[in-house]
Amino acid sequence: MRKITTVALDKPLEKPLLNFMNSDRVSHFYAINDLQHLRDKTLVCVALSEDRVVGYMLEYDKRILYMRGDKNCTTPLLSNSGLNEALFNVEAGQLPLVSRVFKPVEAADKMTKGLVTTFVTMKATRRSFKPLIRHRVQELRKENAPALARLLGIEPEQALGFFSGLAFGLFKNENLVSYAASPEIIEDLAIVRGVFTAPDERNKGYSQSVCTALVEKLLGEGKEVMLYVSKHNPAAIKVYEKIGFKKTGHLFLGFTAKRRD
Ligand SMILES: CC(C)(COP(=O)(O)OP(=O)(O)OC[C@H]1O[C@@H](n2cnc3c(N)ncnc32)[C@H](O)[C@@H]1OP(=O)(O)O)[C@@H](O)C(=O)NCCC(=O)NCCS
Repeated sequence: MRKITTVALDKPLEKPLLNFMNSDRVSHFYAINDLQHLRDKTLVCVALSEDRVVGYMLEYDKRILYMRGDKNCTTPLLSNSGLNEALFNVEAGQLPLVSRVFKPVEAADKMTKGLVTTFVTMKATRRSFKPLIRHRVQELRKENAPALARLLGIEPEQALGFFSGLAFGLFKNENLVSYAASPEIIEDLAIVRGVFTAPDERNKGYSQSVCTALVEKLLGEGKEVMLYVSKHNPAAIKVYEKIGFKKTGHLFLGFTAKRRD
């Protein structure tokens, strides 16, 4: 095995790291986004082998550890984090090595039966998209934050933070009952997240209509659209497949873990 060294990201390493990430932007979506927009809250550690970037770890907001790359980088990268507990987002091959240092205690998504959520990645393009609008949906603006707060059971100020990009919703009797958003976009690739329908309004096709409107607008602006969904969430996968999202083949693991003694 070639020797791996790890270093904190500095200016000369920025370009090689971005080249590494841009070779597969679906895999590195949030890392690229964090580097572009959230750099002040993100510690970045790069793994090098013979001066080539072979992996990296992002420690975001002292609570999320995001790792990608050659699995042999996992242990050296982890030795740069002082966190005792973190929400991990890693590749499948990294899990056994992370587990030597951190013990998974909770899956990232509530529907998961075990302690580790497998996220499937899906993507829609103009070619694959199959619009399915059967209800009246509308683009949401900041003034809709109180309605979104009621739907999600959060504070209105917190809901305001959900309006950084595009969002669509469906109202019924003045209540917002279904929602989907694309808060982050890196150049021509947008992510869909925050997809939610009120529990007593599910299975009426609302999410298909809301997601269609959102994806239609993003594709119309020349973006490709991707998302991550737990493999244990058949209803969401059904919505996305029905409107033309296809699995890309990428799998990621999400879990909270505590450092072993
Ligand atoms: C996922 C979610 C947004 C779907 O919203 P919705 O408005 O009920 O979705 P729709 O009615 O448009 O479509 C749901 C489809 O899944 C199907 N479905 C529901 N439960 C299912 C299950 N357990 N297995 C397979 N299919 C299922 C429905 O039959 C429907 O398909 P159909 O129109 O062909 O009959 C909603 O369940 C939700 O808010 N879940 C919690 C939040 C969440 O998981 N968000 C997704 C994060 S990626």
